[in-house]
Amino acid sequence: MGGNGVVPCRSVPMVAFMAALFLLATAAASASVPALYVFGDSLADVGNNNHLLTLLKADFSHNGMDYPGGKATGRFSNGKNSADFLAENLGLATSPPYLAISSSSNANYANGVNFASGGSGVSNSTNKDQCITFDKQIEYYSGVYASLARSLGQDQAMSHLAKSIFAITIGSNDIIHYAKANTATARAQNPSQQFVDTLIRSLTGQLQSLYNLGARKVLFLGTGPVGCCPSLRELSSSKDCSALANTMSVQYNKGAEAVLSGMSTRHPDLHYALFDSTAALLRYINQPAAYGFAEAKAACCGLGDMNAKIACTPLSNYCANRSDHVFWDFYHPTEATAQKLTSTAFDGSAPFIFPINIKQLSEI
Ligand SMILES: *[C@@H]1O[C@H](CO)[C@@H](O)[C@H](O)[C@H]1NC(C)=O
Ligand SMILES: *[C@@H]1O[C@H](CO)[C@@H](O)[C@H](O)[C@H]1NC(C)=O
Repeated sequence: MGGNGVVPCRSVPMVAFMAALFLLATAAASASVPALYVFGDSLADVGNNNHLLTLLKADFSHNGMDYPGGKATGRFSNGKNSADFLAENLGLATSPPYLAISSSSNANYANGVNFASGGSGVSNSTNKDQCITFDKQIEYYSGVYASLARSLGQDQAMSHLAKSIFAITIGSNDIIHYAKANTATARAQNPSQQFVDTLIRSLTGQLQSLYNLGARKVLFLGTGPVGCCPSLRELSSSKDCSALANTMSVQYNKGAEAVLSGMSTRHPDLHYALFDSTAALLRYINQPAAYGFAEAKAACCGLGDMNAKIACTPLSNYCANRSDHVFWDFYHPTEATAQKLTSTAFDGSAPFIFPINIKQLSEI
């Protein structure tokens, strides 16, 4: 009560209080997204397929020639891929490949895990036996979920996962298989829209499974203009993009949007950002110079017409400047392309990333 005593008594705790607030604020800023859980195909594989007996590998040169140390890591790229840039933009380390850490008895899954596997698709039958299918990735993740619940406790695990971002890039391989394999007769029996509808039905169940296992912030990277990848372009005598594959990609991304917006209506605690990779990447393909590219058709690394006949191997040709090529090999973007796309997804806006961007998703 004494007038004089109050001031020092109050000011000391005030300093401590301010310091505590500052610490809290700093902690909150860096902990807004504690971890990144990545699912999908070769666009985000950071080494899972190195652990598989498969033809779908990239752990040899010239892959990785621009990666730190110039080493092939299993990424289907000359350098980093979108899983790396996504982590960088969020201030996180790249999530490790699930198969690289799961054999350890004290594997730490709280800093994020990458389940992505080259070749995988929405459908179980896409490159079956050559990759970790998306269903299998979700099954592996359910084990991770159980492990987190054991180590952190159920409530803590749920709150950790709810703050984490679940990034998914899947669908390109299904579309590529359909477009490359299906003859006109087969297509008449299974029209492309019907095929895409089947994919979207599977995707609905897969995304719901992830929600049931704690995913609350979903980043869905829609398929790109896969008809313009060198492999499909090379099939046309005029070297044009495959209109069929590009149309399917647009249909697929529309379907994914409907699934996610439906889910977020049913589950108000689900937040998502959808990246229209087709719209974003077509800008580079249609106006390369405007985006710093000199070559948007041929692959940088490969063999044959447009370097698009054969994969990137130690025997393949490669281009002198990887930063001015949109495509690294017959299917995959260069590091430069992945970096630019991820940056648009991170703080860009509609029609490329919506209803919110990754930065906004991270701040929820
Ligand atoms: C895909 O395979 C998984 C097992 O890996 C199975 O549980 C699931 O039912 C299959 N899905 C379809 C659509 O066949
Ligand atoms: C490579 O391409 C990039 C992007 O177009 C350009 O900025 C850079 O100057 C090029 N490097 C060389 C050595 O030509």
